[in-house]
Amino acid sequence: MSDTSSELSDIEASLQKVYGNGALQDLEELREHYPNQPDEQLADAIRKRPTPTATLFFRDENLATFATDVAPKMAQALGKQTLRVGQVACSTGDETWSIAAMLEKQGIDYTVRATDINPDVLTEAEAGVYPNGALNVLSDSPAIACKAARMFKQNRREGTFEPDKKLREHVEFAQHDILEGPLPGGPYHALLVNNMLYHYPEATRDRIMENIAGSLAVGGVLVFENCDGPGHEVRAGIYASAVGF
Ligand SMILES: C[S@@+](CC[C@H](N)C(=O)[O-])C[C@H]1O[C@@H](n2cnc3c(N)ncnc32)[C@H](O)[C@@H]1O
Repeated sequence: MSDTSSELSDIEASLQKVYGNGALQDLEELREHYPNQPDEQLADAIRKRPTPTATLFFRDENLATFATDVAPKMAQALGKQTLRVGQVACSTGDETWSIAAMLEKQGIDYTVRATDINPDVLTEAEAGVYPNGALNVLSDSPAIACKAARMFKQNRREGTFEPDKKLREHVEFAQHDILEGPLPGGPYHALLVNNMLYHYPEATRDRIMENIAGSLAVGGVLVFENCDGPGHEVRAGIYASAVGF
């Protein structure tokens, strides 16, 4: 019989090293350092806790700017092709459904493939059932967000809301660790990366950026977070290649 409590304390001790000194950041390095550890348990613990998972509907204005100012021009340039949007670090899907609702309201032909490393948040994202209060942020949001909010159906009895069926036809969730490689199913015309990168140290961020770049179509755009992290700043923005489609 295995000694679960000592296995757990091994995991805790290892996690302490991972998070405590910032030296190990991904599963690959972890396996190299701990070849004899209960690998899968440790790996699972890391998948579920690399960074906080807090998120909100219509959280960052850069998504609204993308939906109103950028996506329509891209859709026009794409002609009959569907605008393919990828998302890194979607957490429980609040942002994913927000962008889908805004693109829908703009009348754009789109798909969104949203990814996260953590399987637990993905289960919630796919279920797509949220407490009513989650849409309260709308009072401070751009007009497109208020319009897009109509794409969510309230269930008053349950005190919840969920995305309209129409949105579900365009949205797909998948587990992916952006440290391991480009987003599956790419290349994407636009990639959304909000509130994730700043949790990682610089060397890891460089690797993440390479994988992000490898997920983008030529002429694609990157919609980026605006966050200050310890010792560095990541500027929000929409970065577009000069090449065009
Ligand atoms: C603070 S949440 C951001 C959620 C959303 N993008 C937003 O801005 O509201 C950070 C998310 O990044 C995810 N994450 C962290 N490291 C990741 C990685 N290496 N690959 C994919 N997702 C990751 C976490 O699981 C978490 O759900």
